[in-house]
Amino acid sequence: MIIGVPKEIKNNENRVALTPAGVTEFRKHGHIVYVQTEAGKSSGFSDEQYTQAGATILSTIEEVYGIAEMIIKVKEPIESEYALIKDDQLLFTYFHFASSEPLTHAMIDRRAVCLAYETVEKTDRSLPLLVPMSEVAGRMAVQEGAKYLEKPMGGFGILLGGVAGVKPANVLVLGGGIVGTQSAKMAAGLGANVTIVDISLARLRYLEDIMPANVDTVMSNEYNIRELVKSANLIIGGVLIPGAKAPSLITRDMLKLMKPGTVMVDVAIDQGGCFETSKATTHENPIYEVDGVVHYCVANMPGAVPYTSTLALTNATLPYALQLANLGWKDACSKNEELRKGLNVVNGKVVFKGVSDAWNLPYTDVKELF
Ligand SMILES: NC(=O)c1ccc[n+]([C@@H]2O[C@H](COP(=O)([O-])OP(=O)(O)OC[C@H]3O[C@@H](n4cnc5c(N)ncnc54)[C@H](O)[C@@H]3O)[C@@H](O)[C@H]2O)c1
Repeated sequence: MIIGVPKEIKNNENRVALTPAGVTEFRKHGHIVYVQTEAGKSSGFSDEQYTQAGATILSTIEEVYGIAEMIIKVKEPIESEYALIKDDQLLFTYFHFASSEPLTHAMIDRRAVCLAYETVEKTDRSLPLLVPMSEVAGRMAVQEGAKYLEKPMGGFGILLGGVAGVKPANVLVLGGGIVGTQSAKMAAGLGANVTIVDISLARLRYLEDIMPANVDTVMSNEYNIRELVKSANLIIGGVLIPGAKAPSLITRDMLKLMKPGTVMVDVAIDQGGCFETSKATTHENPIYEVDGVVHYCVANMPGAVPYTSTLALTNATLPYALQLANLGWKDACSKNEELRKGLNVVNGKVVFKGVSDAWNLPYTDVKELF
C-alpha cells in the first residue's frame, strides 16, 4: 500500500503520525511511504532520518495526498485539506466528528474512508488510541502544577516534596482513571501527600493496593471534596463520564475555602472541565486566576511535549496502521472488531451512531459495508 504522512498544519500541532521506526516497519512489510518534508521536525525527527528508514520525502502536502492510498495523520483535516482528499482514500487520524459538523459534511462529500483513532475500542471498552495521550497529560499535570505553585508564577510558593523538617504539599486528584493514576504516581514520586477521589469503589480499592504509602483514596462526593480542598495546594481534575460533559466537582464557592495561590489543573477541560470556573486556555496563555486560585486549563496538553507524545501515540497506532496496510481497510476491519469500531464515515455514509445522532444524518450500520 502507498502510505502518506502529511505535515500537521493545525495551529500548534507539533506531533507527527509516523516516526522513522514506523517507516522501517512499513518497509519491512513491502509498503511504500511518502513523508512531507519537515513533517517530523517539531517532534525531533529529520527528513534524513525518514529517508534512511526508507521513506521518500515530498515537498508539498498536495503531493502527499495526491499519491497516497492511506493518509496517516494526528489531527483531523482542516478546511484547506478537504479538497485534497480523494474518493475512497483511507484516512487514519483523530477526527472527533461529533464536535464538527463542517468536517463531517466535508468527509461525506469527499467519499473518504475515515477511521477515527478516538473510537477504536477494545473488547474491555478501553480506547487504546486515547490512553497514551491521557498518560502524557496526567504526568504533565503534576509538572505544570509544580511550576505554577512557584511564587513568581503566581502560586503559593510551596515545593511539592517539601524538605527535611518541612511538610510536603497536598495534592488532590479528582478521578482515578488513566489521567488520575499517572498524576498520582508522579506527585507521590516527588514526595507530595496525595489524595485520589473517585466514584468507583472498585477503582479506589485497586488504587489503594498499587499506590505508594503517601497516596490515600477517598470516595468522591461533595462533602469530602469540600473538606479536601481546604488543605490542598494542587488540585488535578481528571474525571470522565464517557460521552457527557464533565461534572463540576469544584464549584465557585469552594474557591473561597482554598488557600490563595492554590493551583488547579483541569485536564478534563476537553470535556468541558470539572471545575465550575474552568475555561479552556492555550499553551501561549495557559493560566488565569479566579479568587486567588490559579487555573491551568490547556485543552491539548500533550502538544507541549511532542517528542514524548509522538512516540506514545505511534507506539499505539502503528500495529493498527500495519494491519490496515497489510490487509486493506475492508479486510482489516472485517477481521478486527477493534478497528471496525474506528470506522466513522465511509464512502459518503455515516457508520458511527454518535456522529449521525450529533448532526441528524442518516445512519448506515457498519455491517452493511462488508
Ligand atoms: N487536556 C488534555 O490535554 C487532555 C489530554 C488527555 C485526556 N484528557 C481528558 O482527561 C479526562 C480524563 O481522561 P482519562 O483517560 O483519565 O479517563 P478515565 O475514564 O480513564 O478516568 C476517568 C475517571 O473519572 C472517574 N469519575 C467519574 N465521575 C467522577 C466523579 N463524579 N468523581 C470522581 N471521579 C469520577 C471515573 O470513575 C474514572 O475512574 C478526559 O476528559 C480526557 O478527555 C485531556
